[in-house]
Amino acid sequence: MANQDFSTLAIRAGYDPSKHFYSVNPPIYQTAGFDLVDIDRTRRLWTGTEGGGIYTRVGNPTGGVLEDRFTQLEGGKAAVAVSSGMAAISYTLLALGENGGNIVSSSSLYGAAQLALGSFYKNFGIETRFVKNRDDVAEYESLIDENTRAIYLESISNPNIELYDIDAIAKVAHKYGIPVVVDNTVATPYLYKPFEHGADITVYSATKEINGHGNTIAGIVVEKGDFHYDEKRFEHFYRKEWKMRDLQDNPRSPIEFIPGAPLIATLKIFFTEFFGGALGSFESFLTLQGLATLPLRLDRKLETTKKLIEYLENNPHVEWVRHPYAKGSRYRELADRDFPKGPGALFSFGFGGDREKLGKFIKSLNNVSYHVNIGDVRTLITNSQENTHSELPGDIQELAGIDKNLLRVSVGLEDADDLIADFEQAFKKAFEE
Ligand SMILES: Cc1ncc(COP(=O)(O)O)c(C=O)c1O
Repeated sequence: MANQDFSTLAIRAGYDPSKHFYSVNPPIYQTAGFDLVDIDRTRRLWTGTEGGGIYTRVGNPTGGVLEDRFTQLEGGKAAVAVSSGMAAISYTLLALGENGGNIVSSSSLYGAAQLALGSFYKNFGIETRFVKNRDDVAEYESLIDENTRAIYLESISNPNIELYDIDAIAKVAHKYGIPVVVDNTVATPYLYKPFEHGADITVYSATKEINGHGNTIAGIVVEKGDFHYDEKRFEHFYRKEWKMRDLQDNPRSPIEFIPGAPLIATLKIFFTEFFGGALGSFESFLTLQGLATLPLRLDRKLETTKKLIEYLENNPHVEWVRHPYAKGSRYRELADRDFPKGPGALFSFGFGGDREKLGKFIKSLNNVSYHVNIGDVRTLITNSQENTHSELPGDIQELAGIDKNLLRVSVGLEDADDLIADFEQAFKKAFEE
């Protein structure tokens, strides 16, 4: 099945109706616990020798379908579905960085991730080294040392829509035995497959384009499965754990528990168990339902994105537009190389008026919701500096390049001409004397 097209896998991969009463839709297993049947089966379940539900805090079969589907969509080894994109990011970086590691990271990230890396993870002994010139592969290399546990970046950065040469960055990372973690939320695996560009781990906010309807919060982590974790740098992936014991009660390490995917083993066995963030069954179902139409939605949104950008570029009240489709974008070449279907349906523009006019403009929009989310059926707009990135202290905000007049647009499925007409009347109202 793995060789099939994305659109087929997004609907069918990872699900066998014959194992679920021939239900055409993956059922919502709305239960806290599962019948263990007998003590021998219990032992098999707890040792991972037999698959099956135990307790929904540590996994649920509806989420299991999502995990298998995503593993196949990405061409990875294993995945875990968690309760939000931030859980996916934090679990991954805390697990890799355990006990004094550092992360070399792009400095243009979604606000909460940027603050978690720049400040909160320090409380757990994990330091972040932000790369300032994010296009400069040599700067990533210069920040690596013997405690570096990951290079972290977004394949399409939010909200400045930067793209990076991940192939080149991964080459450098691998020279030092360091995995590359890519937040592929904005691109989705439909537009960009990080594993085909050297990445080793992907993290997602499935809340966004993957679900696509703005009705659930969800996260996914996928591990490719062929990264060699050095025994010294990643000592903890070689530590024998009773909780990972086999059927004969021999403790096993994460690297033995899921060969090739010790990160997913760690997240499944320790993080969801102790931090309690496995994705619920209803949220898993909604994510699966959204995923089925992802290619159709993105194809249409990419067309609308082009039209909106063209309209805004010719508007006298717009100072600039950031997206690889924008005129003169320095990311156009990379987009053509790495994003043949298109570089995403998220862009930002510089509003050419003061705060009062900006407020009037947002308030006058009827078909565009003022909203912090992205990747919805609805078109959404936000002034990132006062919303998604408002929690960042000034110096981190400056590093991330969040301008005061930046308006981020997440393109939805409304008619493009209706959206343009709506922008036009809102500009008129904002600038009328
Ligand atoms: C690029 C990116 N990654 C991660 C997140 C966090 O996702 P969640 O809100 O599902 O925790 C977001 C949320 O806006 C995001 O835009």
